[in-house]
Parts: sequence; structure tokens; C-alpha cells
Amino acid sequence: MTKQQAAGQQHTPVTVIGLGPMGLALAETLVDHGHPTTVWNRTTEKADALVAKGARRAGTVADAVSASPVAIVCLKDYETMYGVFGSAGDALQGRVVVNLNSGTPTEANAALGWAAERGVAYLDGAIMVPPPLVGHPESVFLYSGSQEVFDEHRATLASMGDPRYLGSDPGLAVLYNTALLQMMYATMNGFLHATALVGSANVSAVPFADLALNWFMPTVVDATLVAQAPNLDKGHYPGDMGTMEMNLNALEHITRTSAEQGVHSDQPRLMKEIAERAIAEGYGGQNYLAVFEIFKKATPAV
Ligand SMILES: NC(=O)c1ccc[n+]([C@@H]2O[C@H](COP(=O)([O-])OP(=O)(O)OC[C@H]3O[C@@H](n4cnc5c(N)ncnc54)[C@H](OP(=O)(O)O)[C@@H]3O)[C@@H](O)[C@H]2O)c1
Repeated sequence: MTKQQAAGQQHTPVTVIGLGPMGLALAETLVDHGHPTTVWNRTTEKADALVAKGARRAGTVADAVSASPVAIVCLKDYETMYGVFGSAGDALQGRVVVNLNSGTPTEANAALGWAAERGVAYLDGAIMVPPPLVGHPESVFLYSGSQEVFDEHRATLASMGDPRYLGSDPGLAVLYNTALLQMMYATMNGFLHATALVGSANVSAVPFADLALNWFMPTVVDATLVAQAPNLDKGHYPGDMGTMEMNLNALEHITRTSAEQGVHSDQPRLMKEIAERAIAEGYGGQNYLAVFEIFKKATPAV
């Protein structure tokens, strides 16, 4: 029995639909926090360990959604959610669905329409941590859509992590999710390419990671990105401390060094092309952050 259970605190009953690695982590965390938890999954035996911990296994999707005032859905994607709820019939009417699968803003907006047609109050969400970090108070969960649902079930959502409400547009949570993942992949690829570059001279990744990250945080993140974010909103890119032309030079050196050292050079070449486009569009005398103006537009057709 958990501390909360022992203290006899009242917790909202919750249903969790979908017990992949993430759904299992969500359901286990809710059980640990003392929520009476009902679970449903296509492959029923994935619930065995949860049932042993005190969760209730629903026999049908209709039974699952009827068991609790709120159903947290964590399936593969939106199409899977529609397929799974296809068998729920009228049981969905008047229920609350918090959907945490990944997808696109267009899909999230379509899900709101799907929910409205069935009399379901709908909150969309995105989980910004891997399964082992679910339940930590600082683990960020993004939500958008019905503020009423968010406010009413905030305490339950807080059992899974740090719930952040982004606005009534249901697509915002998955849009933020995609933007943050884009940043994660670009940063990881930048670090991995840099490590391959120094690795071409037999430098080990461990000391390089230490030096690189201690340089990156104050120089790039704090002094540049955090300090300059207000200028992105204003479209203000003063070039007095260094121009786009100067940065193109640096990108040319990275591309050439990559080739000379025998490592992959697509990444710096693409960044060089983006800087060249910025210069072609008149940003040559402004600072490097003016590439933001290029990123705000669709890629021109070739
Ligand atoms: N894992 C992560 O690190 C992570 C992090 C953030 C967000 N997410 C998001 O969370 C969602 C769930 O991810 P996951 O890692 O748990 O695994 P997943 O492989 O994306 O989803 C597995 C779940 O979907 C169900 N499913 C798949 N196809 C189905 C079908 N045709 N009919 C019924 N159920 C079906 C699976 O049921 P069965 O068990 O029966 O196959 C299982 O419950 C995804 O959208 C993912 O992007 C995951």
C-alpha cells in the first residue's frame, strides 16, 4: 500500500486505455498515487502486473470508460483511438477523454470534432518524458483543448507529472511537442556531428562532451538564445557583434573541415545553404538569428 493509500486520501477514479510502455507507466503511477484505476488494452495480459498492484481490468472498452469520470488514452495514434472507441457505443456520451498519443495539430483538431459528435469533453495532451520519468513532479505534460476538463482534473493530471495548459486550441500540445522534439533532434545531431569531427582525431566522446556542454550552456543557450529571444519576436537582428556573412564563413569552414577529416558533411552543408538563402534575401549584414526569417516560411519549391 502506498503512503497516499495508507493515509486514506480520496483520489479520483481513472481509466487508462492503452498499455504500451507509456500507458503502463501512466497506469502504474496512478495506482501508486492511490487513484482507483481501471485499465483496458487490446492485449489483455499486459495488465497482469497492474492488476496484481490493485488496478481493475475492464473486459470491454465500454466497461472501461463507464468505470471512471475520466479516461486517459495512450494508444499508438489517433486512428487507433478511433478504432478502439468504435466498440464503446453510447458509453462515451458525457464522458471525459484526455488523449496523450503523439500526432499532428490537424489530427488533434479532428479529434475534437470526433469527441464533440459523441458528447465527449476532450483534452489533448503530449508527454515530454520517457516512461521511467512518469510520475516525477518535474516531468512536463502538455495539454490543450478544454480548459474546463484541465481545471477539473488538474489534481489527477498532476499525479502523472507537471501539467501545463497551453490554450483552448487542441492542436497546441502536439505542436509544442513536435517543436520540442525538433529542437531535441537538431541539438543531438549537432552534438553527435561535433563528436564525430573531433573523433576523426581520435578524441574520446567523454572529455569532449564535458568541454562542449560546459561551453554550450553559457555561450549558446544563455548568452544567445535566452538573451535574444525577445528580438526574435521583434524581428530585430543587429549585426554589430557579427554578421550573417561572418557566420557563413564559419559554416563553410565546418563543411570543408568535415570533408577534409573524412566525416559526414550533409548537416553543415544544409546549414550553409540556409545562411546563403538568408543572405540572398537581404540579411547578410544582420546577425545569424535572422535565419529565423527563413525558417518561418515554407521551403521554396525546387
Ligand atoms: N514510449 C515513449 O517514450 C513515449 C514518450 C512520449 C510519448 N509517447 C507516445 O505515447 C503513445 C503510446 O506510446 P507507447 O510507447 O506506449 O507505445 P505505442 O507502440 O506507440 O502504442 C502502444 C499501444 O497502442 C496499442 N495499439 C496499437 N495498435 C493498436 C490497434 N490496432 N488496436 C488497438 N490497440 C492498438 C497497443 O496495444 P497492444 O498492447 O495490444 O499492442 C498499446 O496499447 C504514442 O503516441 C507515443 O508517441 C511515447
